[in-house]
Amino acid sequence: MARDHEAHNRAFWDADADDYQAAHGEALDTAPRGWGAWRIPEAELGVLGDVRDLDVLELGCGAAQWSLALAEDGARVVGLDQSAAQLHHARGCGVPLAQASGEAAPFADDSFDVVFGDHGAMGFCDPEVTVPEVSRILRSGGLLAFCISSFLKWLTDEEAGSTHELQRGWFGDHALVWPEGVAEFQLPYGEWLALFRRHGFEVEDLLHLRAPKDGTTTYDEFVPYVWARRWPAEEIWRVRKR
Ligand SMILES: C[S@@+](CC[C@H](N)C(=O)[O-])C[C@H]1O[C@@H](n2cnc3c(N)ncnc32)[C@H](O)[C@@H]1O
Repeated sequence: MARDHEAHNRAFWDADADDYQAAHGEALDTAPRGWGAWRIPEAELGVLGDVRDLDVLELGCGAAQWSLALAEDGARVVGLDQSAAQLHHARGCGVPLAQASGEAAPFADDSFDVVFGDHGAMGFCDPEVTVPEVSRILRSGGLLAFCISSFLKWLTDEEAGSTHELQRGWFGDHALVWPEGVAEFQLPYGEWLALFRRHGFEVEDLLHLRAPKDGTTTYDEFVPYVWARRWPAEEIWRVRKR
């Protein structure tokens, strides 16, 4: 893919932010400490744990619902997003905001204890750029945690949604621009592991999210319930900087 994915994604979210917040904002406000399309509670998954007194960066924060909740939990949080229109929905929430790409975070080395995103920048940036960038701004012992679409979903998605057939290859097919204009990245598991290791991370967990029984979502086109009960449509990496 051409290296203009940041521009693709900025244009998409600048145009879509009002519709996105109209569709999902209420659910995000109601359950801000929830992961993925099914808002699976942080209290159940324990991805971030106790964030009190930690310096936390949300990478791709949208309207910063997660950031605000963690600030209420006692973290010093910054929300970063490259879309001015998404950040417009976060303005006034009381959390410091940065308009920048996750590929060039405007922070000094060793600034944060936790960098995280829930379908945030990690899925829409080139991992070869973001993984070293996050390693740079995290302190030793710091946590990178992010929820993205699963690699299985990536392999089986077609334009209309998830299918039961392979739609693209395991090897080489690691970036695309969807027809609506979103540029997305994925890596096979072995490549994520090698990339994390190269940049000083140790993997603590890879969580595969299952749609809860009778679960509901505002992202039902993105992640159909029947599919997401049988297979993981989303996954969360937890990796720690040595
Ligand atoms: C699917 S939304 C999720 C936002 C938020 N976590 C939520 O649940 O609403 C993805 C966000 O990532 C942001 N994003 C995409 N590419 C980015 C980049 N290169 N740098 C920073 N943010 C980016 C978009 O602007 C958008 O706000």
